[in-house]
Amino acid sequence: MNLLRTKSVEQSIRDTEEPAHRLRRALSALDLTVFGIGVIIGTGIFVLTGQVARDNAGPAVALSFILAAVVCGLAALCYAEFASTVPVAGSAYTFSYATLGEFPAWVIGWDLILEMALGAAVVAVGWSGYFASLLDDIGVTLPTTIADPPGEGGTVNVPAIVLVLLVTALLVLGIKISSRVNAVVVAIKVSVVLLVIFAGLFFVKGRNYDPFIPPSASTPEVAGLDAPLMQVLFGVTPVAFGWLGIFSALAIVFFAYIGFDIVATAAEEARRPQRDLPIGLIGSLVVTAILYAAVSTVVVGMQNYRELSTDAPLADAFKAVGHPVFATIIDVGAVIGLTTVVLILLLGMSRIFFAMGRDGLMPRWLSVVHPRFGTPYRSTVIMGLIVAALAGFIPLAELATLVNIGTLFAFVVVSLAVVILRRTRPDLPRAFRTPLVPLVPILSVLACLFVMINLPVETWLRFVVWMGIGIVIYAAYGYRNSRLQRAHAEAPSGK
Ligand code: ALA
Repeated sequence: MNLLRTKSVEQSIRDTEEPAHRLRRALSALDLTVFGIGVIIGTGIFVLTGQVARDNAGPAVALSFILAAVVCGLAALCYAEFASTVPVAGSAYTFSYATLGEFPAWVIGWDLILEMALGAAVVAVGWSGYFASLLDDIGVTLPTTIADPPGEGGTVNVPAIVLVLLVTALLVLGIKISSRVNAVVVAIKVSVVLLVIFAGLFFVKGRNYDPFIPPSASTPEVAGLDAPLMQVLFGVTPVAFGWLGIFSALAIVFFAYIGFDIVATAAEEARRPQRDLPIGLIGSLVVTAILYAAVSTVVVGMQNYRELSTDAPLADAFKAVGHPVFATIIDVGAVIGLTTVVLILLLGMSRIFFAMGRDGLMPRWLSVVHPRFGTPYRSTVIMGLIVAALAGFIPLAELATLVNIGTLFAFVVVSLAVVILRRTRPDLPRAFRTPLVPLVPILSVLACLFVMINLPVETWLRFVVWMGIGIVIYAAYGYRNSRLQRAHAEAPSGK
């Protein structure tokens, strides 16, 4: 069995030089950081903050954000070493192919598709909520039947579908255009976040922080399959609040940081990947961690955590203190800001597809780049259509946790792979070296596993099903059609 056949790092880099499969190298360190912030700040802070403060963590929600940043920071230190060593499209997928072998690489690629496709769909649905609320502000009310998916009182979520299709079109036109659009949007989004922090400070009331960590309690939110796996494993009656509540909130707000890893998927398009990628990865993570801790602390200070809204908590906190104009500005910022998140998630996903197609694990015609725009347009369009359908017809709020588990799993594999690559290829030049190997990678693995077991039992079941489907596809297609497999099969006949 060749399940562990690896593709050498040199081969990965050589592949990027084939003309029909070459992406344009256009991004600088600043572009990459902006790119990172563009995808990181999104539904997580704009929407999930209210939900987790109300249901899981109370006013201590900022602790969940800080702990999540620590987990991501450990993983980012590992990602940065890989990204600066193997600067080709495909992120954790490529890194695993060069180190762990083809099957683990497939598993990771499949997993990243889950992260980005479902992530994009979740954010598109979040966007449509803000969009509907903005229209409401100007007196236009969308009929529920075209603004919500079945299961939430509607038939189809038209705004979410339209958004995904527009973003797909932008991506086909080329990354340089999209990253310029992105830079402007990121500026707007960061300004709105700063507005919440500085304007909100004036409305903070000390009594809203008391109790800072509400005592643990058994609530309907943690009943049945919604119970965190950890609490089930250890046989305790599942509870919300208290420290266990802070941990389950951490497992949810982790979504707010998803995206820094996607900076690594643009490795092949970076001008100086060896230097710029680590700056892009770690820079975007540090900036967002500071903003999240500040925003969440301010919002739970403005309004009692039990009263926070779960649809638009940042805007509604301002309505609650009698400042609807600020709320409208925040709504506008969220509508614009969430657009870039969808854009970058879809971009990352099409790049994973591209890399897997180039390696023959997905049909190879998917990875041909457009002669004029230089983008992998086929995978972009196909996946754009699938994401549009998901966003239009499926209520996705709970699926954010499925995105998290997939991403955390990828982090575990990347962290392990850093250690493996240090042993198997100590000779490779590494522009960025993870400090204290193997301590940092091991801590990263443990931290990710800890967050994963704080996710609901139901999420674990869905994840296992998704991975099962992936394994079947690999067995039926990728295993036979992989370029490495074909090269191997041809070798004995002297070709
Ligand atoms: N981190 C991104 C968000 O919160 C995915 O929307």
